Amino acid sequence: MSELIEKLNAAHQLTDDELLRFFAEEQPEDELFAAADAERRKYYGDAVYLRGLIEFTNYCKNNCYYCGIRAGNPHAERYRLTDAQILACCVEGYGLGYRTFVLQGGEDPYYTDDKICALISAIAAQHPDCRITLSIGEKSRESYQRYYEAGARRYLLRHETADPAHYRMLHPESMSLENRKRCLYDLKEIGYQTGSGFMIGAPYQTHAHLVQDIRFLQALEPDMIGVGPYITHSETPFSEMPSGDVRFGLKVIALLRLLFPSALIPATTAFGSLHPRGRELALQAGANVVMPNLSPVRVRKLYDLYENKICVGEEATQCKGCLEQRVKAAGYRIVTSPGDRAVPGSNSLREPAAELTQ
Ligand code: 5AD
Ligand code: FES
Repeated sequence: MSELIEKLNAAHQLTDDELLRFFAEEQPEDELFAAADAERRKYYGDAVYLRGLIEFTNYCKNNCYYCGIRAGNPHAERYRLTDAQILACCVEGYGLGYRTFVLQGGEDPYYTDDKICALISAIAAQHPDCRITLSIGEKSRESYQRYYEAGARRYLLRHETADPAHYRMLHPESMSLENRKRCLYDLKEIGYQTGSGFMIGAPYQTHAHLVQDIRFLQALEPDMIGVGPYITHSETPFSEMPSGDVRFGLKVIALLRLLFPSALIPATTAFGSLHPRGRELALQAGANVVMPNLSPVRVRKLYDLYENKICVGEEATQCKGCLEQRVKAAGYRIVTSPGDRAVPGSNSLREPAAELTQ
């Protein structure tokens, strides 16, 4: 086994220099992915967890240079789902076996804290056995606290890049890495299961930035790490920047699995959008979560973060069936109901925290 993979396997750690070498040098992919897969199986067996994604607004007050729904894109056709539409998505998802709903949206001032809390309470009342995840960006600690009290238990907020200068190249002056980090630590302190992450191959990203991303994640200790290749969007200031590389992205997934053995790592839609088997390959490189889209088909193509996003024409049932087959073909098993055990009872297997796996 190559020296770096051996060390990753044994110590789940690399020095900065070793990380830089890992990124720069060609790695034996079969060995790397096999090691990552074995590590994931120690904790999770062949289980793949589902998170039903509801993209409920594409209005956004921010202007991130990489993102298609940035405020400064006048061609983005904007939509908001009503509470009734969101609740209907949850009913449909529940019927398909989903027990976690991820409410994702741009930073849309229309949704005051009162509105968000009312929505969380309504979903919690309708589905008392489900977990509610929010992914609605940077808020005050007080707001995060209110959402938690209303019943939200998980929050996804990618840090995007842990290097302040790189952060400045991707975001306008109105945003800061400092506030992003403050948000993530507030979320953790309040008690949320927190997800963070970054894009792979984002404009101006260097290997040294990736080392910083890993050090930041090691300090934060998130429950979920979401990464996916950057994908160009023509109506952004980065329209001339090339998309990230899928192979390099898979290498990063495997590295993350070996550095964070028990993390939840989604096989993100961005992988599937850049490669026809991108999500399957991500699963085989160590990912263990998929986040199928539950939004009404009518609005799907409008949640246009990047080009050629997949699943824009498929109904929720179709995505469920499609993913089930893909996950199976990749060699894994979708776990939908909390009753399913992730790992067969065996002392040789380390059990993940039950709360994470539902
Ligand atoms: N390509 C890939 N991922 C993107 N995101 C936003 N824009 C793009 C893009 N052009 C990611 C960001 C954000 C998440 C919701 O989607 O990392 O946090
Ligand atoms: Fe949506 Fe395959 S997962 S169509």
